[in-house]
Amino acid sequence: MEDEQKTKEQLISDVVAMRLKITELEKSQNGLIHAEEVLSQSLEKLRKATDFIINILAVAVEINDPYIAGHHKRVTGLAAAMAMRMNLSAHIINGIRMAGLIHDIGKITVPFHILGKLGHLSDAEYGIIKNHPELGYQILKDIDFDGPVALIVYQHHERMNGTGYPQGLKGGEILLEARFLAVADVVEAICTHRPYRQALGVERALREISEHRGVLYDEEAVDVCVKLFREKSFSFKP
Ligand SMILES: [Fe+2]
Repeated sequence: MEDEQKTKEQLISDVVAMRLKITELEKSQNGLIHAEEVLSQSLEKLRKATDFIINILAVAVEINDPYIAGHHKRVTGLAAAMAMRMNLSAHIINGIRMAGLIHDIGKITVPFHILGKLGHLSDAEYGIIKNHPELGYQILKDIDFDGPVALIVYQHHERMNGTGYPQGLKGGEILLEARFLAVADVVEAICTHRPYRQALGVERALREISEHRGVLYDEEAVDVCVKLFREKSFSFKP
């Protein structure tokens, strides 16, 4: 009888101890939920700040080169649409979007008389313009983006057969994001008016990327880009 009473008391004391532990666990869980909320709010703030900085940089580049007004947004719109159509990961799409918005940031250092020149560029002038991916990389490399933004900017003029610049990278050496951006960049440039020529139109742009599919431009990027225009799932806003 005495033993039974002891076991009962022990059981009650175990239950009380367990309740206390549960209360403690609930408290720490609530604390974790709160910390998670604070963290996610901070991340959201950081993301908004990064977007804001990227947009300001894009505006700054286009002020220096009025002939490419809207270029960054249009290229980004096309490259992101291509990546989404391919079901690429949100991380890759976000990298393409951020790099797309500032891919020509290195041109900020190129004098306007070269950027806006109507006639033929000298080798020296062309050399200065060709340096813009590297300068862009130097400007961005220390910023802690959520993705390889600086490298994508560095590689957006590379070509599949190694004839691009500035590093002459080939095929898989070039980041997927940069291969997508390269195709969108070329298509947008051909479709748009330039100081030295009229806009050449979507058909001419699609012919350019199709003729050099797998040689200059990534095959999958070309295929999905052509598909988007043929299906009328994408068009540049006027
Ligand atoms: Fe560029």
